[in-house]
Amino acid sequence: MAELVPVDAFDIVIFGATGDLARRKILPALFHRWCDGQIPDGCRIIAAAREDMSSQQYLTRAGEFVNGAKKQSAWEAFAKLVTYTPIDAQGDGPGWQVIADTLDTDPGKIRLFYLALPPSVYGAFCAAIGKHRLNTKSSRIVLEKPIGHDFHSARRINEAVGAVFDETSIFRIDHYLGKETVQNLLVLRFANMLLEPVWNANGIDHVQITVAETLGAGERAAYYDRAGALRDMVQNHLLQLLCLVAIEPPFSLDGDAVRTEKLKVLRALRLIRGEDAARSLVRGQYAPGMIDGAPAPGYAAEAGHATQTETFVAIRASIDNWRWAGVPFYLRTGKRMAHRRSEIIIQFKPVPHDLIQADAGVMQPNRLVIRLQPDEGVKLMMMTKDPGPGGMRLRYVPLNLSFAEAFEADYPDAYERLLMAVVRGNLALFMRRDEVEAAWRWTDAIVQAWRDGASPLHLYPAGTDGPSQGALLLNREGREWFDGQHA
Ligand code: BG6
Repeated sequence: MAELVPVDAFDIVIFGATGDLARRKILPALFHRWCDGQIPDGCRIIAAAREDMSSQQYLTRAGEFVNGAKKQSAWEAFAKLVTYTPIDAQGDGPGWQVIADTLDTDPGKIRLFYLALPPSVYGAFCAAIGKHRLNTKSSRIVLEKPIGHDFHSARRINEAVGAVFDETSIFRIDHYLGKETVQNLLVLRFANMLLEPVWNANGIDHVQITVAETLGAGERAAYYDRAGALRDMVQNHLLQLLCLVAIEPPFSLDGDAVRTEKLKVLRALRLIRGEDAARSLVRGQYAPGMIDGAPAPGYAAEAGHATQTETFVAIRASIDNWRWAGVPFYLRTGKRMAHRRSEIIIQFKPVPHDLIQADAGVMQPNRLVIRLQPDEGVKLMMMTKDPGPGGMRLRYVPLNLSFAEAFEADYPDAYERLLMAVVRGNLALFMRRDEVEAAWRWTDAIVQAWRDGASPLHLYPAGTDGPSQGALLLNREGREWFDGQHA
């Protein structure tokens, strides 16, 4: 494990501290960083939510997600950093004053306000933070996706937050940007001379981005039913991955250099509408099926009513710029699919002249597989000669870099990394306002196309790769989805 550099001391206020996100992700992330010695003495964690309870009661509930006896005793020591304060959503009650008094004992310290809340109340909470003068020069606000439901609601939220916080203190989380392999994308592209000269329409045939989950909507059905896969996954995670594959080399890795390049890609994404929509969009919803050998219900049964919400989307996206003209980016994501796997596949073009005799075997173009999860790694498929006598026989083999084999596998998870990046003020790993709004503009056009009846909802059995129309999207163009594991 690389040496961990502790961050400066900070206070963090987690609003919505009794919710799932805070208990499952944020507190455990802080706890793990603390266990690794990255969180210095003097940090304070103020958990705030509506329910009335003591700090002790809160800690007992919050500790539920910490497993193992060794961890339990560490948790007891970590818990000393945490206090719980009941607050109201209007920003009037005494809890707000308690928070102000606590923070004011050390006014110069870095302050994080984490809104683990629905985006509809981001504005109200920012106003309350402003009203109580909690935001200092060294304050940062952390927002979770989704920022809004469409372009206009995102803009309203961004304005309400922007009325209290400068853009340089707003950290909009897309947890995919905290994943190890996603961060590695920039290194892979820009720290290796080999790839960049062919990383364009001359060298690349197409790009595939797949984020498949075996989980269903589960307990989040109420939220999910209003969002669907397009808003929940594509508008943010998949578009961020697409951006990192497609950006021009930034002049540095500083916050705005990378984000400005991502914005250019988002603005160059062709809006999918009219006849293009029917050809380029597929949406599906899982029906009853089998997951891991056990029967799994359909989405409508989980939601408790008949619904048109999509749990699967496949999209043929195009980037209208010099580098990517004519190179399709196929995106797909779905819940209750056959396997959990997130990967980016870059399919290169065939060599211009095939000089090897046909009976030697099939020539295949190079393929770069970037696996985000599980089994993070990078694999480059190459043609090689089968060694030994017997003439020229071709083999398609991987140059394989498995992270688990090459490095210490135990590195911080996305939330841990992102929280420490907020403390350090590293904006590069967070979405800027104009990026979010540009992503919504593109997504809104798809929603509109669906409203206009562009693509019907196809059912697929839980535990499969989605509706067959998802495969047709590529097959029609003489291509197919690859499974990076067996590429
Ligand atoms: C979240 C979505 O942002 O990402 C969830 O809201 C989804 O629906 C999750 O399950 C997937 O994240 P990961 O890290 O498990 O791929």
